[in-house]
Amino acid sequence: MNIILMGCPGAGKGTQSAKLLKAFPLRHISTGDVLRAEMASGSQLGKQLGEIINQGNLVPDELMVEMLEKIVKATDKGIIFDGFPRTVTQAEALDAMMKRLQRAISHVIMIDLPAEEVVKRICSRKQCKKCGAILGVDLNNPPAVCPSCGGELYTRPDDTPERATHRLEVYRQSTLPVKNYYQNGGKYVEVNGNQKPEQVFEDIKKILEK
Ligand code: AP5
Repeated sequence: MNIILMGCPGAGKGTQSAKLLKAFPLRHISTGDVLRAEMASGSQLGKQLGEIINQGNLVPDELMVEMLEKIVKATDKGIIFDGFPRTVTQAEALDAMMKRLQRAISHVIMIDLPAEEVVKRICSRKQCKKCGAILGVDLNNPPAVCPSCGGELYTRPDDTPERATHRLEVYRQSTLPVKNYYQNGGKYVEVNGNQKPEQVFEDIKKILEK
C-alpha cells in the first residue's frame, strides 16, 4: 500500500498520518517535516529553504524530488506521502520514480476542507517539540505544555494568518491541478475533512480496507 494524502494547508494530513501509522505498518514521509528538519540542522541548504518555506512558497520541484527519492529508496515499507506531490511536475516525477523502483501508488486520498476553515485551523495549531503531536488549541486558553508528554509547544513560523492565506493561494494555483492529474486514474477518492478527526480517520480506513 502506497498512499498519497492530499489536501490544502490545515486539511489534516499530518493528523490523519499519525492515526494511520498506528493502524497500518506504513512509513510516513511528510515533505514539510523533511524540509523543517533540514532547516533545524542549520545547514546552508536549510537556511535557503527557510527563506522559501517561512514565506509560504514552494521549494523548487527538482530539489524536492531529489530529496524525496533518497528517502523512498531507503524504505521497504508501504509509504504515506504527505505533502507530495504538490505540483504536476512532482506528480509526473513520482510516477517515474515509482516505476523505476517497481512500486505503485495504491490510493490517492484528498482530504477536502472548505477554504474558510483553513486560516482558523492553521492559526490555532501548536506542535510538540518532543513527541511531534499536532494540537488544535483554544487560543484564549492554550495549554502550557504538550498534554501527551509534557514537551514544549511551538507555533510554526508559516502559521500566521497572512502566510496561511498565501499558502492557500499557492495551493489553489500549484497543487489543485494535481487533483485533475489523478482524478481519472481510478485511485483517487475524496473524504470530508470537515468533521471530527476520528470520523475522517474512519472514512479513510474504510477506503483502505476495501
Ligand atoms: P507542510 O508541512 O506539508 O504544510 P501544509 O501542506 O501547508 O499542511 P499543514 O502541515 O499546514 O496541514 P495538515 O494538512 O498537515 O494539517 P494538520 O494535521 O497539521 O508544508 C510546509 C511548507 O513546506 C510548504 O508551504 C512548502 O513551502 C514546503 N513544502 C512541503 N512540501 C513541499 C513540496 N512537495 N514541494 C514544494 N514545497 C514543499 O492539522 C492542522 C490543524 O487542524 C491542527 O491544529 C489540527 O489539530 C487541526 N485539525 C486536523 N484535523 C482536524 C479536524 N478533523 N477537525 C478539527 N481540527 C482538525
